[in-house]
Amino acid sequence: MILLSFPHNPTTTCVDADFMQRVVDFAREQEVVVVHDLAYADLGFDGYSPPSILQADGAKEVAVELYSMTKSFSMAGWRVAFMAGNAEIVAALTKMKSYLDYGTFQPIQIAATVTMNEAPDYPAEACAVYEGRRNALIDGLARIGWHIEPPRGTMFTWAPIPPEYGHMDSVEFASMLVKDANVALSPGVGFGPGGEGNVRFALIENEQRIAQAIRNLREALPLLES
Ligand SMILES: Cc1ncc(COP(=O)(O)O)c(C=O)c1O
Repeated sequence: MILLSFPHNPTTTCVDADFMQRVVDFAREQEVVVVHDLAYADLGFDGYSPPSILQADGAKEVAVELYSMTKSFSMAGWRVAFMAGNAEIVAALTKMKSYLDYGTFQPIQIAATVTMNEAPDYPAEACAVYEGRRNALIDGLARIGWHIEPPRGTMFTWAPIPPEYGHMDSVEFASMLVKDANVALSPGVGFGPGGEGNVRFALIENEQRIAQAIRNLREALPLLES
């Protein structure tokens, strides 16, 4: 089984529909199943729209896709999501879940249904909020001398540790910023050894709080050239 997830957490890597077609072609050739976790389906910026793997020709022969209401509808913790795509794989998940639980608490299930029917435009609003926060963060960091490629999707920003602080690993760097700037970042190494040298910002605070964080970071990072 190939497990994919784009836009990607934590690296924010985004792909296009062509990429998904190549994955599906490969999976059909090799006779493997593909599971695509599209948790950031609605969080694409600057006009970018994250592709569904189900757009690819032949996808339903090999692929399924997960969609969660957590990000698109700001329903973190509600545990409402669904899988679409290859019928046999969806049936296998249905069977497995029947052994594990009794379904979603009904009031939550009803609330989710009503939300999808009556607020289909909400994901675009949520996306605009995250895009505004991304801009506030990227522009603010650039002003203090920390230059980062703006992410095209997700609710995160993946940032290489600035070269001026290259002598610190990601845990040391993030620990320093918690103490000196009151800013909490996820050390990249927490996602695996390949993440070392990076930190992840989560765009979970409003733009005023992001501005405050930038002011604190300016104080805490005197080696940056602003
Ligand atoms: C790639 C990815 N999948 C799934 C989730 C969580 O989704 P849910 O709340 O539906 O479990 C996240 C949230 O952080 C995520 O980044």
